[in-house]
Amino acid sequence: MAAASKTSAVPIPTDAELLQAQADLWRHSLYYLTSMALKCAVELHIPTAIHDLGGNTSLPDLLAKLNLPAAKLPFLRRIMRLLATSGIFASDNNAEVETYRLNPISWLLVEGIEAEDHTYQKFFVLSTNSRHYVEAALSLADWFKKDLPLPTPSPFEVLHGVPLLDENTSLLDEELDQIVEQGVAAHDNLAGGTIIRECHDLFKGVESLTDCCGGDGKTARAILKAFPGIKCTVLDLPKVIANAPDSDGVNYVAGDMFKFIPPAQAVLLKVVLHLWNDEDCVKILQQCRKAIPSREKGGKVIIIEIVLSNSMGPIMYESQLLMDMLMMVNIRGRQRDENDWREIFMEAGFTDYKIIKKIGARGVIEVYP
Ligand SMILES: C[S@@+](CC[C@H](N)C(=O)[O-])C[C@H]1O[C@@H](n2cnc3c(N)ncnc32)[C@H](O)[C@@H]1O
Repeated sequence: MAAASKTSAVPIPTDAELLQAQADLWRHSLYYLTSMALKCAVELHIPTAIHDLGGNTSLPDLLAKLNLPAAKLPFLRRIMRLLATSGIFASDNNAEVETYRLNPISWLLVEGIEAEDHTYQKFFVLSTNSRHYVEAALSLADWFKKDLPLPTPSPFEVLHGVPLLDENTSLLDEELDQIVEQGVAAHDNLAGGTIIRECHDLFKGVESLTDCCGGDGKTARAILKAFPGIKCTVLDLPKVIANAPDSDGVNYVAGDMFKFIPPAQAVLLKVVLHLWNDEDCVKILQQCRKAIPSREKGGKVIIIEIVLSNSMGPIMYESQLLMDMLMMVNIRGRQRDENDWREIFMEAGFTDYKIIKKIGARGVIEVYP
């Protein structure tokens, strides 16, 4: 009886719905092949080859440029057809000769372009599709079943025995460690210039700023260029600061943000907090609070991070949720929605916050003491 009533509660799909469901299931089960085709295109340097061919190419010309065997032409066509359908290249299949062009996504994968807004994303693709990341994702169900100690280690950490983005990651695989480092840098630096241009008011009137976890100072230098009056300090770990430039006008401080953040009117945390769990974020924000003056004196923390929300449409939201899965599978951090952010701000002793702007998948948040 119970089984019968359960069945009746589920509407039986129509024939049309079943056929659509089957096609959708193919798509969802096989999306990894799109990722692998993208990885293959990057490894074969296809975006750079199309760029060198003038940004638009026929398949035979592409094959010749890539120095691939003639017998691979039909296979190249199949990969390019999928990648164009997925939006990674543009194509003109109605023309007499089938051609493929760069679009903004593939433009990000062209090597050797010198442009302020071109941040080469090859290593983001290679790291996120590396064997170690994929194996960690394959272990998800096993990880769910394990009763693990708190704070919960990631599937990557449990499977591979070392955390990602850790000084011990290179012991697991030196090449992976380097690819990940470059992948993270590519991820962090994309749209840095856009953010400064679009959020001009964020830095207006700010006399001093500490870029907490500011790495090699790229962001601080860009802020200094746009606002020469700001006294900029970068805080990062000693091994990072050891490689900081000598005289670029930025003050570099080696240290641990959990212990001390150099005081300034504003502290910037650009794509940092998603790497940490909530407890650690509260500790970091408490240190930020100690480093800034009162709100009346212009004290604020500026956070640039994903703010999960479906308000920008399902595709942007799916990108944000996939970035959250990337965190869940590989490190202890997470992406957060506005409620999650509010909770950790209040927990850290802040009184108010404002989402100043949404820029692409990310939000710019000011948090006030
Ligand atoms: C994702 S990167 C930050 C990216 C940078 N804010 C940007 O926008 O380009 C994380 C940085 O945090 C630094 N870091 C990690 N733990 C730290 C700590 N306890 N104190 C200071 N810096 C730390 C790392 O060395 C690394 O440079």
